[in-house]
Amino acid sequence: MLHMQQLREATVYIEAYAPNFRPDIGIILGTGLGALAREVEVEHSISYANIPHFPLSTVESHAGRLLLGRLGGKNVAVLQGRFHYYERYTMEQVVLPVRVLKMLGIKQLVVSNAAGGLNPDFNIADLMLIDDHINLQPTNPLIGPNHDELGPRFPDMFAAYDHGLLAHAEAAAQELGQADTTRRGVYVSVPGPMLETPAEYRYLRIIGADAVGMSTVPEVIAARHLGLPVLAVSVITDLCSPGHLKPVVLADIFAAAAKAEPRLTALVKAVIEKM
Ligand code: HPA
Repeated sequence: MLHMQQLREATVYIEAYAPNFRPDIGIILGTGLGALAREVEVEHSISYANIPHFPLSTVESHAGRLLLGRLGGKNVAVLQGRFHYYERYTMEQVVLPVRVLKMLGIKQLVVSNAAGGLNPDFNIADLMLIDDHINLQPTNPLIGPNHDELGPRFPDMFAAYDHGLLAHAEAAAQELGQADTTRRGVYVSVPGPMLETPAEYRYLRIIGADAVGMSTVPEVIAARHLGLPVLAVSVITDLCSPGHLKPVVLADIFAAAAKAEPRLTALVKAVIEKM
């Protein structure tokens, strides 16, 4: 079925499920970052399995629910669980939920993820506000005929991460006493699902990245195509610079995400209040 038709059917389903709810802000929750969902005053919770054409998460740490509710005084639509290219979804499937949220009415997008720290100054459980990215995924969601209803053929990526939202986030980090653990930097997106070799981590640092992960960039590309301003935050779950490198244990990644969760939650809530 054509992508545009899938988007419309998913949107119509959600609108019928929650006829009086219009989201202002979309939020994508990454690995181990579910606590933010508990802060939302949930009005509707819809399983992805029930939404036409929504992919189903194959990653255990991702819940697979769309929450509609209130956070920081705004109407939010929270994607609890996201899709990755390594799950063998097409890039159109990976970004389908973002496009549906836009059709539901969101004006801004907040994205979170877990990432490996390449910048040697970073510590485990630091937050990194993404201020630019490098796409090393093998493809991207805009390949193919352009959907003119969604956005232009050649979207600009000069300020993929909205400067106003970055300023709000830095101000919120200051106010919350989180300035020391809130960094800023470049996120590189790799296909995964294996983690990187030491030589690959050195390479990713040399090309200019501060953190590495397996998500986010496809969704941000789709959001920019849709004209949505984006704020994206990485939780640094493991350290990948030469002096710090050791075998990655998945449990350690979850533990680091859990440690950072209260700070991420407070920061996102504070930024949404300013949005
Ligand atoms: N590499 C890629 N993705 C990741 C990492 C990493 O070190 N840590 C968390 N997600």
